[in-house]
Amino acid sequence: MSITIQINQLEKSVQHEGNHTTLLSLPHYVIESGEQVAMMGASGSGKTTFLELLAGITTPSAGSILLNDWLFHELRDNERSHIRLEKMGLVLQDFMLFPHLTVEENVLYVYEQYKDKMNTLLTSLRIQHLRKKKVKHLSKGEQQRVAITRALLHEPSFLLMDEPTSNLDPATARVIIQTIQEEAKKTGATLLIVTHDEKVANCFPRTDNMEKLNFAYNHQEALL
Ligand SMILES: Nc1ncnc2c1ncn2[C@@H]1O[C@H](COP(=O)(O)OP(=O)(O)OP(=O)(O)O)[C@@H](O)[C@H]1O
Ligand SMILES: [Mg+2]
Repeated sequence: MSITIQINQLEKSVQHEGNHTTLLSLPHYVIESGEQVAMMGASGSGKTTFLELLAGITTPSAGSILLNDWLFHELRDNERSHIRLEKMGLVLQDFMLFPHLTVEENVLYVYEQYKDKMNTLLTSLRIQHLRKKKVKHLSKGEQQRVAITRALLHEPSFLLMDEPTSNLDPATARVIIQTIQEEAKKTGATLLIVTHDEKVANCFPRTDNMEKLNFAYNHQEALL
């Protein structure tokens, strides 16, 4: 099963230094089930803010996030966590790995039944030889690939990745993006990645730009 994302009048605001600041204002945005989208946009344009809302890590100040028929933002915290665990594969800008555990232990932490799948992915992502090593001894690019392996492991319906190739050299980035896209295609997953790399974005059938989508960012720029 795949997932369609529908956003309506979405807003995220915070109280910052005594002021009410709107970080994200997204009137309407849709990703169809099984679509593969690359999100670009300047640093600070709201990409991570948007991904954290889609993953249910934060909640909107206004508007709606519809994942298929679920009014995702209205679910209770534990229901959102359950959907995140079962249906989503996340790679965040901070990889959220356990530094003192090995690659294998990190990847299988929640889904210990997927050992074969793990080995296939580690090989595709070219880190199979590191599986017994502690994560704290890996390079940033290797750690990033551990986070990608963990995100793909349980064949989720919705893949959300925040700059998944930011620490990789161009040749490795190409291989990693190909693996992610092939996995998404195989399982029918909807895929949204954030990237600053035009070469990566060019591998995607659809590219969006948060600078244009985020009315709060446009507005802020217009005031400068
Ligand atoms: N809790 C917060 N309080 C105040 N401002 C915040 C908060 N969280 C984010 N921001 C601001 O919101 C804007 C959007 O941040 P966000 O992390 O979404 O940007 P981004 O597009 O992911 O940037 P990058 O490409 O650097 O990762 C930034 O200007 C940031 O400083
Ligand atoms: Mg970001």
